[in-house]
Amino acid sequence: MISKSMQEAINDQINEELYSSYLYLAMAAHFDAENFSGFAHWMKVQADEERSHAMKFYSYIYDREGKVTFKAIPQPPSKFKSPLDIFKQVLEHEQKITKLINKLYELAIKEKDYPTEMMLHWFISEQVEEEKNDNEIINYLETLGDSPVSLMMLDRRLAERK
Ligand SMILES: [Fe+2]
Ligand SMILES: [Fe+2]
Repeated sequence: MISKSMQEAINDQINEELYSSYLYLAMAAHFDAENFSGFAHWMKVQADEERSHAMKFYSYIYDREGKVTFKAIPQPPSKFKSPLDIFKQVLEHEQKITKLINKLYELAIKEKDYPTEMMLHWFISEQVEEEKNDNEIINYLETLGDSPVSLMMLDRRLAERK
């Protein structure tokens, strides 16, 4: 059975993942309003992934005979700046999530909770992947600039995300 402190920490992480999903959906809504359908698609796929992260934690709590409890999900911003600015915001958000996952891992080590350590390995790798993807897009925008042509090219590329 999962400890009360670990259950609480994972429940908090579920809230963070659901907020991440909400944040990326807000960014998708912004891109749709600006007619960047590829950027919007990328954000919707990301929002779905974040919800699936929340569900991984959700299932894990029940696998360990715990209980999921939900808190309010904060309101995401509705005003955004340029695509480069948005992806910098995404990277900053993911760096915060990485820190939170690392904190969970430290708690698992402290409690000698080996199953939770194992479960978190997936999330540790996932955070490396997400930060890498965000950095690639930021590098693209910083190298090619944000002229209409380069934004259109990137929009087409991001539309292909599975
Ligand atoms: Fe996530
Ligand atoms: Fe994420």
